[in-house]
Order: sequence, then structure tokens, then C-alpha cells
Amino acid sequence: MSTRYRKVKTVIEPKAVMEGAGVKLKRSLGGEELNYLDPFLLFDHFGSPHTEDYQAGFPMHPHRGIETVTYMLAGEVQHRDTLGNEGSIGAGDVQWMTAGGGILHEEMPQVRPEGNAGLQLWVNLPAKLKMTQPRYQDVSASEVPEVTLEGSTKVRVIAGTVEGTGGAVKNIAANPTYLDVLVPAHGSFVQPIPQGYTAFAYVFEGKGAIVHDDGQDWVTSPRLVVLDEGKELKIITEDEPIRFLLISAKPLHEPIARYGPFVMNREEEIQQALHDLQQGTFTWKGEAS
Ligand code: FE2
Repeated sequence: MSTRYRKVKTVIEPKAVMEGAGVKLKRSLGGEELNYLDPFLLFDHFGSPHTEDYQAGFPMHPHRGIETVTYMLAGEVQHRDTLGNEGSIGAGDVQWMTAGGGILHEEMPQVRPEGNAGLQLWVNLPAKLKMTQPRYQDVSASEVPEVTLEGSTKVRVIAGTVEGTGGAVKNIAANPTYLDVLVPAHGSFVQPIPQGYTAFAYVFEGKGAIVHDDGQDWVTSPRLVVLDEGKELKIITEDEPIRFLLISAKPLHEPIARYGPFVMNREEEIQQALHDLQQGTFTWKGEAS
């Protein structure tokens, strides 16, 4: 008999790290505890009301072989890149960047009274798409569908489908689901997740219980919960609400070689990326499709 509900497999406490030119953030994936959760490479939560914790930002840096997904909770990040794109990401906005064969960009948090907060996920690209043309899906907050479920649970559908409502981000190789879920006190939420897909919940506000076939496990923010195999996720609350991201995608089952912002399949490809960067031939040079 197959398992219905996905239970907790691993609980990860986010660890404080310093990134970019001196940005304080909390890392749950891509660190020592769990370096790779196929196809997810990294998950960071940045956020501070203090200017000195975020102002230095992420000056011009390269990426190759991956996608970076930035979801803003508060404040604003200005970005620009070597392809000539420029813009800002504000609260509730999403930027799904496919770095593909190579891009250099900068991500600079702006000083705001409300501070700066958001989440960044790195998704691996399959070998056949690692050197693909870079592209962006920039989605403003108003373009993200919000679904209110029975019991007043609210879901912002960034990618995937919730009760027939499709997400704002489409045509991503890993067929991801990326939901921002707010379950009120004494509420519940159930979401099907395809079997065989990797799934995790990042709980960033409040607390709730993950219900499974043999009981339930309580989780209090901030925690990243890797989910076990099963057909769906069920979360319930008692006196407190809970807010979390539910993220799932199809695993690649391919070898990886990673070095900072480059994630390829073989070590030679990492050397090639470093070589290209030194030679000034790093950014994508293929035919526009
Ligand atoms: Fe970046």
C-alpha cells in the first residue's frame, strides 16, 4: 500500500551565513547540513531591518548551469545584467532567472524604512539545458494568482497548480510547484504532490503540524522541512497561523559538479566556466531561438 501523506524526512535549522559583499542571511540548503536536494541547490532567507545587514548587496557576479528564483517579502532589490536587462523586484514580486550558458548580474537591495527581506532558491538545470540561452520571468505581485481555499487558507501560486489555478511562472524544466501558503489558526491545507518528486516546506512564520499516516509532527518557524515520499502534503494549525513555502520539482538524477555560482555535471565544465570568465567569453554566445 502506498503512502498517502508525506511525512517529515529531515528538519533543517537555517544557519547564519555572510554572502555577496556582506549580506547577512540564513541558509537551509546548499550548506554543510544538506548540500543538494535534487534538483534544489540552495535556499537562502535574507531579511533585516538594519541597513548594514543588507546594503552591500550582491555586486556583479556570474551564474552558469542553474536557475535562481528570488521572491521578495519586503523592501526592494535593483538588478541589472550583462544582457542589458535592468529592473527592480519589490514585495510580492518574483524573478525566475534561467542563467543557462552564462550571465553576469548584480542584485542590490535598496535602503528602505521597512528593511529588506526575501527568499532565494537555486534550481539545477538538466544537462541538456545547462548551456541554454539565459532568460527571465519577471512577475509582479499583482500577477501572482491568489487562491482562497475552504477555511480561509490563502495560497499565492507562483508556480504549479492549486485547485485548477495555474501559477504565474511557466515552462520551467523541473516542472516546479512554488506556493506561498498562509493557513490561519485552526485551519488546514492539503496539496497533492506528484510521487517521485522532491518536496520541501520552508516555514517562515508561526507553527503548524504536518499530518501523516501515523500521526503528526509540529514545526515552528524558521525551519526547512524535507518531505518524505507520498501523494500529498497536509498541514494543520491550532492557536497560531502558519506561513510557509511549499516547493517541489522533478529530480534530475544526474551527476553534479558545483563551484560557487557554477553548477555543471563534470569538473572539466567547471574549469571551462572559470576559463571563460578569465577570457571574457563567459556570457551566453549561442543563437537566439
Ligand atoms: Fe545572483
